[in-house]
Amino acid sequence: MNAHWLDAELEGADTTPERRSKFRKKKLLGRRKLDDLTAEDPDGIADDTIRRLIDTGHISEIVAELKSGKEATAYVAHGPRGPVLVKLYRELEARSFRNDAVYREGQVVLDERAKRAMQGRTKKGLEMLQADWVSAEYAHLWTLWRAGLNVPEPLVGPNVKACAETVPAVLMRLIGTEDEVAPRLSEARLTPAEAHSAWQQSVQGLADLLRLGYAHGDYSTYNLLWWENTVIIIDFPQLTTRQNPNFSELLRRDAQSLATSFRKHGVQTDGEATLREVQRLVRGKVPEPRIVLP
Ligand SMILES: Nc1ncnc2c1ncn2[C@@H]1O[C@H](COP(=O)(O)OP(=O)(O)OP(=O)(O)O)[C@@H](O)[C@H]1O
Ligand SMILES: [Mg+2]
Repeated sequence: MNAHWLDAELEGADTTPERRSKFRKKKLLGRRKLDDLTAEDPDGIADDTIRRLIDTGHISEIVAELKSGKEATAYVAHGPRGPVLVKLYRELEARSFRNDAVYREGQVVLDERAKRAMQGRTKKGLEMLQADWVSAEYAHLWTLWRAGLNVPEPLVGPNVKACAETVPAVLMRLIGTEDEVAPRLSEARLTPAEAHSAWQQSVQGLADLLRLGYAHGDYSTYNLLWWENTVIIIDFPQLTTRQNPNFSELLRRDAQSLATSFRKHGVQTDGEATLREVQRLVRGKVPEPRIVLP
């Protein structure tokens, strides 16, 4: 696969800061109104997914809308074990799944009918894709969290059936507090020493992912949070494995977007140098796995 082809496929993907700002100006379709998600009485909540999350005890209420992106909106909610980040994907009609093919290549779908429905973008196919994105995001969060990487703790699963219950939402621990949610590195104000530490942690994060056989697929300061001097990686539905023939290009692009997006913090390096550093770190220190008690 040549890089030019990938460029065309990723046209519009939020891999670079410039592209992101272009997106922000666009009208956001399929966005739910906060009014529909909150009410004194849970039965009065208009949004089916949120009502279901409350009925099943995953959350007790939505507190605020945090951020609305292209494919999902992030909300802060109260949960039984503390603050929850609810990443609620847009309704099907409003989802593009635009770059889906690039990230999916090399993935095996055994059920031919399911595969055709997904490729043909029939309503059933779109529903499957939506469910697939959610379960992929949970599965990745679980794998990475257990491996000891700095990612938000998933609050549902790892059982696939349990994860399916929250579609089209992904529930994870909120990084920060309800009053002060962790900023993204793209908007954090850092001292030179903090910027240096954030850079090292971010490159280390890319190496930790690579060691496990993954490329993030959208790795930049827009998908890295900064909390208590620690970098936390987020946003995983497009995580790609080595089986994907686009793997090397996606990894290279991750290194490139990381380097580009760190320029505002005074880090001057390029994608190739970053990639070499990642490859060096892959052979180095491994994170301590988290022990999950039943
Ligand atoms: N666990 C978390 N704790 C705190 N904030 C979070 C968490 N997860 C996501 N966020 C916030 O929600 C935003 C959207 O999350 P995410 O990047 O996963 O979704 P997205 O649909 O890709 O959004 P975008 O298009 O802006 O990248 C993030 O940029 C971040 O500000
Ligand atoms: Mg994101």
